[in-house]
Amino acid sequence: MNIQSDVNIGLVGHVDHGKTTLTKALSGIWTDTHSEETKRGISIRLGYADIEFRKCPDCDEPMCYTTSKTCENCGSETELVRKVSFVDAPGHETLMATMLSGAAIMDGAVLVIAANEYCPQPQTKEHLMALDVIGVKDVIVVQNKIDIVSKERAIESYHEIKEFVKGTCAEDAPIIPVSAQQGANMDILIEAMLKRIQPPERSLDKTPLMHVARSFDINKPGSGAAKIKGGVIGGTLVQGTFKLGDTIEIRPGITNNNKRITLKSEIIGLEANGKDVEEIGPGGLIGVATKLDPSLTKADSLSGSVAGAVDTLPDVLDSFTMEAHLLDRVVGTKEERDVAPIKLKEPLMINCGTTTTIGVVTSTKKKNIEVALKLPVCASPGTRVALSRRVGARWRLIGYGIII
Ligand code: GTP
Repeated sequence: MNIQSDVNIGLVGHVDHGKTTLTKALSGIWTDTHSEETKRGISIRLGYADIEFRKCPDCDEPMCYTTSKTCENCGSETELVRKVSFVDAPGHETLMATMLSGAAIMDGAVLVIAANEYCPQPQTKEHLMALDVIGVKDVIVVQNKIDIVSKERAIESYHEIKEFVKGTCAEDAPIIPVSAQQGANMDILIEAMLKRIQPPERSLDKTPLMHVARSFDINKPGSGAAKIKGGVIGGTLVQGTFKLGDTIEIRPGITNNNKRITLKSEIIGLEANGKDVEEIGPGGLIGVATKLDPSLTKADSLSGSVAGAVDTLPDVLDSFTMEAHLLDRVVGTKEERDVAPIKLKEPLMINCGTTTTIGVVTSTKKKNIEVALKLPVCASPGTRVALSRRVGARWRLIGYGIII
């Protein structure tokens, strides 16, 4: 049985609607672990959790679905159906860049909407729009906090949600009432995720390409020089395989004295679902240990890079031209306004894969927009990027571009 997850499922939605609580209800893992997150009570970074969807051979659907090894209904031993990696995105409006980087590695998503608040809240709308823009198509809607609303409010909230998803990628999505806090209706949700979010087709025979979403220095302060371990990158392999001993290249790499240096290193460790493995293919979230100086990988400094076999990665771009597609309205704020055309010299926030950069517009010819990038990206023509514009004090999603 494959150790790796088959599919990455994103948890998205407005702040405090219950994404982290839902991840905990399904996986037993509380993904807000950074001290600032604990203090402020909101998610700041992407959270990850690996989960097994299991089925009881003796119970009927949907009661048979669980994440537990023993059936809660009859006590039988359950069977593994699918391994899944959860990506828990922050819902706060200031953290859209993080949400967009997370969306780049999601194969499907669960949009969490709290039933006790009017729908849509600003980031409910902005996150759904982001899924649309990035092209995440398999979406399930969770109507959460059902334990604290009356039956009448639950029905009213259902109609608000139905109206809101009209014309979006979630138009036909099932709407599942749950209480993440009480663990209610988790079986129905697991069934929906199993049936609606299918693992994408993965090409094992292509050259490997990994989107790096996190990077770490795993050494404890004060570790002696002899015990220092190399830098670790985390993310998802979208195609190909990595084996222990392979040499990988990481782009764009680092800049030293105005010279760009791509990073190369040997793979000395591979981890999937918390287990060490010798070879890894696409699917789920993986960790790759290298011989790189850990100061290069600490505190997510390589997040947004791509990793793959030497000399096979797309070019590093300091500028590109894209065909821009703008939304009609700027969402994410209480008062919505029309999206004005992109202007010369305007700075745009660009999310390309897991990279977030700023592109200053250097030319506008109808739909074709040229940007000079503050931080380079590693991407090939045809790549879809998310575009945000500064509105007031915040970046707001305004559309997407296709690199020409
Ligand atoms: P961000 O990641 O910061 O956007 O928040 P979140 O969407 O992950 O919300 P979180 O899971 O942190 O929950 C916010 C609050 O709602 C917490 O106090 C939870 O205990 C509470 N909560 C979450 N789910 C439920 C639920 O089903 N019922 C009730 N009553 N409270 C819930």
